[in-house]
Amino acid sequence: MPLDIVIGSQWGDEGKGRIIDFLAGNADIVARFNGGDNAGHSVTVADQVFKLHLIPSGIIQPQTICAMGAGMVVNPRVLLEEVDHLTQLGIDASPQRLKLSYAAHLITPAHTALDGAEESEKARGQLGTTRRGIGPTYSDKAARIGLRAEDLLNKDVLHQKLDRILDHANRLFENVYHQEPLDKEPIQHAFHAYANRLQPYITDVGSLVHDKLNNHGTVLAEGAQGTLLDLDHGTYPFVTSSHPTAPGALLGLGIGPQHIRRIIGITKAFQTRVGEGPFPTESSGDTAARLRGTGEHPWDEFGTTTGRPRRCGWLDAVLLRYTARINGFTEIALTKLDILTNIDPLNICVAYQSGEQQFDDLPQGPADLSPFSPVLEPLTSWEEDLTKIRTWNDLPSQAQAYIERIETLTGLRIRLISVGPERDQIIDRSPSE
Ligand code: GDP
Ligand code: IMO
Ligand code: MG
Repeated sequence: MPLDIVIGSQWGDEGKGRIIDFLAGNADIVARFNGGDNAGHSVTVADQVFKLHLIPSGIIQPQTICAMGAGMVVNPRVLLEEVDHLTQLGIDASPQRLKLSYAAHLITPAHTALDGAEESEKARGQLGTTRRGIGPTYSDKAARIGLRAEDLLNKDVLHQKLDRILDHANRLFENVYHQEPLDKEPIQHAFHAYANRLQPYITDVGSLVHDKLNNHGTVLAEGAQGTLLDLDHGTYPFVTSSHPTAPGALLGLGIGPQHIRRIIGITKAFQTRVGEGPFPTESSGDTAARLRGTGEHPWDEFGTTTGRPRRCGWLDAVLLRYTARINGFTEIALTKLDILTNIDPLNICVAYQSGEQQFDDLPQGPADLSPFSPVLEPLTSWEEDLTKIRTWNDLPSQAQAYIERIETLTGLRIRLISVGPERDQIIDRSPSE
């Protein structure tokens, strides 16, 4: 005991990496359970910004074991590049610290090329995926023809399975997408080299996590993406292909629910989205530009993985109540409150309007949000710079009111308030405060 689960409550990029890094100071294991290198998690320590795509953000804290669970899809090339990059920076990413589930699926060049081909096919309509091969790899998993990390342990099996995947993709390239087939030989060669290096990392992550929890260790489950991108419960079809939710953590690691202590919904103080899909509180013009920033700061709203400008708008409490329900959040961690300084007017969406009717909650999930316009409640902003504030009492009263309004709207306590990207730029309200 215990298991703490960290989940994005919006459309991703809520600042999960930053909060994971903060909480990982007290964790024995940090384990990612979903997605792949579509994720981009930034961790800032002093003047260093670490950008992690696959390896759990807990790797920056020196004492943690970091695991990648069965629910993930892993591009071995990207994983090894990330291992090498961290090693160069003096961070131990050896098999002693880093563990890869035998059951995680592997992304191949066939999957990334298929992701690109599907996105380019106009008839299908673009989703704005990260083109990292996520959808095609999870499709192969569901079709039961995928390549798993354990296949790297047997060269003959690896060769055979990879050959089948490449043949299948090449048939699609030639007959459906009318593009050049992939050259199989160099891909086979590369995968055999990946196998040599990755074999010592492969283990039973479910059993590792289970044993740690049974021995009174602390495990942090690190979600990638956000609940509104969940395959079943997000803004379908504008979603990713995994389950970035609290139940997804159990499934993606291979453990039961009995050890759960906290389920923390990471919530940005405003709303952002990258890629296509509905966004009722989206702003344009000056407000969006202020929330996004110019790109001069590392935290400005441009994708860590793709560099795309993120769409920005007001915090949506209707969607937040929904994602709190899907996950069973026990608390919220609020990030980027510092960005709202001098944003005037400052709005929160408290309900949706459709014709004469007002809805506090979604009548039928978030897939079709087109009938709704947001009911915005104006709040007063503040002029003070929040980035050096470390206690609740030092926050301007308007910032306290903003936080308390979110607590009332969700019925959840906001215990962690982040006021900057650095490790110590956080207000941790003890239960008594
Ligand atoms: P993730 O995908 O949820 O881990 O989030 P990203 O790392 O993609 O995006 C969040 C960005 O905001 C990163 O650059 C963080 O360093 C930064 N960040 C996180 N919390 C805060 C905060 O409270 N204030 C500011 N200014 N930046 C933050
Ligand atoms: P982190 O972990 C924000 C979005 C993509 C696209 C959709 C499907 O950094 O919060 P995919 O490549 O997964 O098939 O794309 O999901 N998306 C993210 N948006 N943050 C992420 O990860 C995302 N991962 C995927 O932009 O709209
Ligand atoms: Mg991100």
